[in-house]
Amino acid sequence: MGFPVDRPRRLRTSETMRKMVRETTLSASDFILPLFVCEGENVKKPVGSMPGVYQMSVDVMVEECKEVESLGIPGVILFGIPAFKDAMGTEAYNENGIVQKAVRAIKAATTKLLVVTDVCMCEYTDHGHCGIIKGEEVDNDETLVHLANEALTHAKAGADIVAPSDMMDGRIDALREILDDNGFENVPIMSYAVKYCSSFYGPFREAAESAPSFGDRKTYQMDPANRREGLKEAELDVLEGADILMVKPALPYLDIISDLKQNFDRPVAAYHVSGEYSMIIAADKMGWLDGHRAMMESLTSIKRAGADIILTYYAKEAAKALKEG
Ligand code: PBG
Repeated sequence: MGFPVDRPRRLRTSETMRKMVRETTLSASDFILPLFVCEGENVKKPVGSMPGVYQMSVDVMVEECKEVESLGIPGVILFGIPAFKDAMGTEAYNENGIVQKAVRAIKAATTKLLVVTDVCMCEYTDHGHCGIIKGEEVDNDETLVHLANEALTHAKAGADIVAPSDMMDGRIDALREILDDNGFENVPIMSYAVKYCSSFYGPFREAAESAPSFGDRKTYQMDPANRREGLKEAELDVLEGADILMVKPALPYLDIISDLKQNFDRPVAAYHVSGEYSMIIAADKMGWLDGHRAMMESLTSIKRAGADIILTYYAKEAAKALKEG
């Protein structure tokens, strides 16, 4: 069969018709909102490269989280801007560190919201790398100990999910072991399993104050040219006990999202990262495209590729739009 019997346009004649045959739909329950928490009180400091995104003190963040919960968004993921940084990133595993305080406050003020914590050293080290430096290199096995301690303090503070983003080998194993040894066998690990060394993290590094002071992250984050290696990274994390597999960034890596969905029986998350967000905002400001439509199209594409969960700075805006229909 073919034209003129087949006319695909027949099913596009009205919005009702299009809605009826739509293959992919977004819902507020697909999203996780990333948040940046800093010390102080009543602080809401705009991030220059990410209009609409702020560093917030715990009190402000608690109010934000109540709104997030009321919009039907299931969770937030927290990034910390610590009081001070040092070579070992010791604030990362301080029980009274900024993220640990924020988790306790948010859990006390909300009922259903899932609090996910990013587990990494880069926000806490003075050199800005994601682990402990030996010579010129990030030392993999030594870093595992610190990451495990960090995750444990997050779980103790009440984190519902821990999400390691450092890309050290063996970190899922290290986290699972310390969590289980301390009675947190029910805290899931959302692994940043397939995380590429991407230019799209640029704005985030301003938001989290975490740009590396020397070198780059190419010896631990993945080469953007590699697809099969993504399957290997995901497989290792599954073997080590990852509960949710994340791909990051999202839009430039839809093939990887699709690969993970087809090859593993774990929920797939995708991180629609800072640069993906800022790019749309900037083009919209210039009047070059409709930012709202570009947002919905991007999020829909990420879901269509296979993502069950989307981490996005657009979570609130998209949830509000979906509510209005
Ligand atoms: C920490 C981390 C980064 C992001 C999430 N966790 C930055 C990086 O790896 O340099 C980026 C998120 C974003 O760009 O929105 N390792």
